[in-house]
Amino acid sequence: MKTAIRKEMTIQTEVMDLLNQQIALEMHASATYLAMASWCDQRDYTNSKTFFYNQAEEERAHGMKIFNFVNTTGGAAISPSIPTVNNDFESLTQIFEASLEQEIKVTESIYKCFKAARNTGDYASEVFLQWFVTEQVEEEDTLRSILGMIDLMGDMPLKMIDERIPTE
Ligand SMILES: [Fe+2]
Ligand SMILES: [Fe+2]
Repeated sequence: MKTAIRKEMTIQTEVMDLLNQQIALEMHASATYLAMASWCDQRDYTNSKTFFYNQAEEERAHGMKIFNFVNTTGGAAISPSIPTVNNDFESLTQIFEASLEQEIKVTESIYKCFKAARNTGDYASEVFLQWFVTEQVEEEDTLRSILGMIDLMGDMPLKMIDERIPTE
């Protein structure tokens, strides 16, 4: 009874492929946030450093959440190779701008997965992806608020801006 012990593949192949790309994207985001954390750490931007170390952990957790889902639904999760990570940044402001850009790309990619799940009638994946849709709204909002605050504070010393970066 080979078929009975074999785990049934419930995930649609198209969705699985997109989710594997999403895993790679989340892991790359994690690596990028780690580079940003290091940049802030070296310059004693204490709150920003904590913010980006936390982000790095969160993105890894996102990647793992998808990784486990793919295998749970009988698919094959792929451990991604991480392409070149940029470690050079101009300023704290530029780092937050780059972070928002990165999050927007992740959101677009989540929407792609969500659409594929819906179009292929893969309801389990669609429900699973709802959490990510909500999460992206929050992540983009956090970064937009930080950038708004940076704009408002204008010429204030960056250390004072750093003091207002959320660390939770
Ligand atoms: Fe993420
Ligand atoms: Fe994120």
